[in-house]
Amino acid sequence: MSSLRSGALPWLAGLAAALVVVGCSSQGSAVPSGESQLGDPERGSRLISDYGCGSCHVVPGVRDADGQVGPPLTEFGRRSYVAGMLPNNAENLQRWIRDPQDVVPGNAMPDLGVSTIDARDIAAYLLSLE
Ligand code: HEC
Repeated sequence: MSSLRSGALPWLAGLAAALVVVGCSSQGSAVPSGESQLGDPERGSRLISDYGCGSCHVVPGVRDADGQVGPPLTEFGRRSYVAGMLPNNAENLQRWIRDPQDVVPGNAMPDLGVSTIDARDIAAYLLSLE
């Protein structure tokens, strides 16, 4: 009986310590710089290539993204506004990427049918450019 107890207690203490560590580390990794950490920036950079954003935009880190139709998306994480209209944050940037014609009707950027999750990851990449 007593040997069972002395065997179980250290194990439980270890489990509790592990839970504390897991809890802290998931908190610690949350959103170090603004909202740019929401989404998967690496996937976002591939999607920028797939959707062909680079035919109209210069996008650092994306191969062949050297278009001159729209403004360069360099250092986009430091930009104050999206298209001079919406305060630049993850939510507004996703809105622009999904539906630029709703934000600025008639502008030269077409609605490209970007899905919600794709817009989230693309925005994460653009906001990581500083
Ligand atoms: C046919 C050309 C074209 C394509 C393709 C295109 N854009 Fe644009 N984009 C534009 C133009 C033109 C503007 C400027 C619109 C304005 O300011 O009214 C713009 C503006 C933007 C802005 C705001 C820039 C700023 O300086 O505030 C972002 C961000 C953006 N585009 C991202 C994207 C992404 C991401 C894609 C691919 C999913 C994409 N664009 C595809 C033409 C394009």
